[in-house]
Amino acid sequence: MKVERLSTGIREFDELVAGGIPRGFFVAVTGEPGTGKTVFCLHFSAEGLRVGDKVIYVSTEESRESIIRQAAQFGWDFETAEREGKMIIIDALMRDRSYEWSLNEVTVDELVAKVIEAKRKLGYGRARLVVDSMSAFWLDRPVMARKYSYQVKRILSKWDFTALLVSQYAITTESAFGFGVEHVADGIIRFRKVLEKDELKRYIIVEKMRQTPHDLRVHEIEIVDGRGMIIKRPTHMRREDFALPEKVSRKLAERRQTTLAWSTGG
Ligand SMILES: Nc1ncnc2c1ncn2[C@@H]1O[C@H](COP(=O)(O)OP(=O)(O)O)[C@@H](O)[C@H]1O
Ligand SMILES: [Mg+2]
Repeated sequence: MKVERLSTGIREFDELVAGGIPRGFFVAVTGEPGTGKTVFCLHFSAEGLRVGDKVIYVSTEESRESIIRQAAQFGWDFETAEREGKMIIIDALMRDRSYEWSLNEVTVDELVAKVIEAKRKLGYGRARLVVDSMSAFWLDRPVMARKYSYQVKRILSKWDFTALLVSQYAITTESAFGFGVEHVADGIIRFRKVLEKDELKRYIIVEKMRQTPHDLRVHEIEIVDGRGMIIKRPTHMRREDFALPEKVSRKLAERRQTTLAWSTGG
């Protein structure tokens, strides 16, 4: 049986995953702040709108307005999509009770209920879901990360979503690792940033994509005004360049996380 794949809207990225993300997958998008996770999710959403998928975007770290403004910088009109009933942005930051699609409490129960309500509103058919980010739901209880991620996937996978679930490394707070998402995910896309000769560079790697002969190399990326994310050629990085910060590696070792950490590869 042929796997139905959804384009991410970034052609070069699609090529890394044999044409796109398999329909129905829940994919973890992970990395430090400022690495491009949100921009990647905006691409995925804009492409969904372009091909007629319904799109639900849950934003916990930025307001709905901020998401709309960021999208506009790359040429996507989310406001019109909302008005036309093709997209719902769930704002989990502002707690604005006058906005129908805000989350009053940042809990997984409320998230799941609101997403289902939004899907009902948008109607039947193929849909894309972004939760940017999941980390917000277990900030004060990181041990729940895996359970919550499982709950989200178990319930929402019945609703014809192909989903990107963002998780952050909170390197300084050491408490909010996103590994819960990675444990339940059908795929893992990891972003990294590295300061090289006084210049910030960003990288992407597909660490996991079930049912997919995916590319295994690190690719440099760029974020370009008016255009969005661009995947450049694969790089040959030195291992120490993309090792996780020592503090994180230590924490991971403590938690017996032997898989998936870049520092253990190679
Ligand atoms: N209009 C733009 N033109 C160029 N780069 C941009 C533009 N908007 C955002 N960026 C880049 O994207 C970065 C934010 O990426 P983002 O996806 O929000 O990171 P993350 O979600 O991983 O924290 C900014 O720090 C900036 O470098
Ligand atoms: Mg972000």
